[in-house]
Amino acid sequence: MKKGLITPKAFQKWQSGHPWLCADDILHKKNLPHRPSAVFFGENWWLCSPKSFLRLRRLGPPQPQWMKNPRLEIITSADQFRSYFGEWLVQHFSETLEKKIRTVLKPNDDIVLRWLFSEADWLPGLTVDVFKNTLICQITTAPIEAFWFALRELLEIAFTARFGSKPQVLELRNSPARKKEGLEIIAPTFGEITEAPSRPLELLRWNSYNWHFQLHPPTQKTGAYLDQRDNHTRAAELAKTLGLKTAWDICCYQGGFTIPLLDRGLAVTAVDQSQNALEILQKNIQINALPKNHCNIVKADAFDWLRGQLASGQKADLIILDPPSFVKSRESLPAARKGYTELNHLALECLTPQGVLVSCVCSHHMRPDDYHKVLEAAATPNKIQILEVHGPSVDHPVLPAFPEGDYLHAWFVRRVVDSEQMNCQMS
Ligand SMILES: C[S@@+](CC[C@H](N)C(=O)[O-])C[C@H]1O[C@@H](n2cnc3c(N)ncnc32)[C@H](O)[C@@H]1O
Repeated sequence: MKKGLITPKAFQKWQSGHPWLCADDILHKKNLPHRPSAVFFGENWWLCSPKSFLRLRRLGPPQPQWMKNPRLEIITSADQFRSYFGEWLVQHFSETLEKKIRTVLKPNDDIVLRWLFSEADWLPGLTVDVFKNTLICQITTAPIEAFWFALRELLEIAFTARFGSKPQVLELRNSPARKKEGLEIIAPTFGEITEAPSRPLELLRWNSYNWHFQLHPPTQKTGAYLDQRDNHTRAAELAKTLGLKTAWDICCYQGGFTIPLLDRGLAVTAVDQSQNALEILQKNIQINALPKNHCNIVKADAFDWLRGQLASGQKADLIILDPPSFVKSRESLPAARKGYTELNHLALECLTPQGVLVSCVCSHHMRPDDYHKVLEAAATPNKIQILEVHGPSVDHPVLPAFPEGDYLHAWFVRRVVDSEQMNCQMS
């Protein structure tokens, strides 16, 4: 990248490996394309979104063959995109898929994983989850939309080469981020088939258990919270090691944490406000042949339910908090801090002495040092120890220079009751 093309501050950011250039970073915007495109700019290929403040997003890691002599400088059609990047992309897709299959799956699991995670897997604006032979693709930026026919074909080539048959491709265009790109928000489609009829639940093996997934239309996210896979396992392992007996899984969805906890013999109360998610949880308990009477399923608002438990003096040894993000933008941070503090405070108050809280937060706006303070405030007057902090599972990698992609943390915290409090509780 030559100095003078972008501001000195953006130059530093670019040197660190950050994959975005905003409109304000670029000094000669007039030369940028006015159509969604791939553009060779400052020794890198970028995907250009002409209507977005996030104007350029880096495509791929730096490639030696691209550095020296690009044959083209602006690509606007899917055909050009396929002929220029096709070979590299099929190789990249195949290698990424293979690496993730090897690192993520447990013995006897079906292929259920995040194949491509946008910037972190070098394809900004495209997320692809695999549920055996169905690909669920989220398209969030204008250039990915412009090149989608080429990208879909290349994904199909890589998938077919690995598994011997073509995948079904479900396309999601429902992210609010699309509006900033000048794109419409529309219903999910299977290829050209819009208004495709909804499909029955898919029964797949994932993370060593059987799950019903609702893929079309997906209920939340792309159908499952694949990013929490390792935290589901870790919470259950820790509960078993510490000999914990009772757990509350607050914002349980379809039971990502609940199922492994039931399997480790804990009595679980699973709380969510979504009736649909709770019905699927019920089926997941049955299909894994877990004792039904060990799980109390409650449809309720997390805050109201915890307030009620506190008022009636109920306690649990392990409490999982996994609410949706309270932070939609930087402006909503103060209100979000307040919400997280209250929720964590209620949970900590309801823990038995030495009980464990698994407090999950999914927003890149809420940085770890900020959440640390939230936990500190929530703990008062209790004392806590932070035991472990984990990110998402390894099919959701994080680029070190891209904090915006570092969005999920699970804080494993123990409530420590000092002897004075203990005496009060016993008397
Ligand atoms: C991040 S997801 C939970 C994922 C789940 N723990 C897992 O690992 O699979 C958040 C869940 O919170 C639920 N939810 C949203 N607002 C809620 C509220 N106020 N009270 C209870 N549940 C809520 C949603 O229905 C959703 O299932």
